[in-house]
Amino acid sequence: MIIAIDGPAASGKGTIAKRVAAHYGFKHLDSGLLYRGVGFAVLSAGKLNDPAAAVAAAQGYDPGRFAEDDLKSDAVAQAASIVAAIPQVREALIALQHDFARWKPGVVIDGRDIGTVIAPQAEVKIFVTATPEERARRRILELRGRGESVDDAGVLADIKARDARDSSRAVAPLRQAEDAVLLDTTHLDIPSAVRAAIDIVEAVRAGRRSA
Ligand code: CDP
Repeated sequence: MIIAIDGPAASGKGTIAKRVAAHYGFKHLDSGLLYRGVGFAVLSAGKLNDPAAAVAAAQGYDPGRFAEDDLKSDAVAQAASIVAAIPQVREALIALQHDFARWKPGVVIDGRDIGTVIAPQAEVKIFVTATPEERARRRILELRGRGESVDDAGVLADIKARDARDSSRAVAPLRQAEDAVLLDTTHLDIPSAVRAAIDIVEAVRAGRRSA
């Protein structure tokens, strides 16, 4: 079974995906880390505005190469969103995601285009969202928790800039798949959001059993 969880920055999709995967004993892939890895590679090489360097980094992608902590900064998130708009970068990262999606008994993959492009055949698709202000509040707490100095207005502006870039790009833009269930987490704490996601999975499974 494939559970695709898409949504904008800091909507809660990563946390939900991780916990839903643990609940079902499935493997979890945070596809954002792939784009963050490419973003980190070009940023550290001083080649953020060199698409050829981004494509080369994506083509030679080695999942074990990056420490997750290095990928979590806001600067890397912005870099990820810039390289993610390059079609050949996305193309180079597809096989890895397709291989992952074949794991049995199931996988949870979170990202921007999982239900629309990477795994349109996913049995369950959830589109997780929250207001930009709430998402900024969460990202500020997360960044502070990791000891980064944070400019609150800057975080909100970055989130809005990334939403705009991710939604308007020509290839695999961020959008809700037609058959995805919308989960708005603005007023939900983490346990409630995870519960709501599991309820969605169970409803789909029940529907399949009775069909
Ligand atoms: O954790 P957060 O939601 O802030 O970001 P992320 O999921 O780690 O993704 C970082 C960036 O990678 C996004 O802003 C997208 O531009 C890009 N991305 C993408 O294009 N497609 C995906 N499936 C996942 C991430």
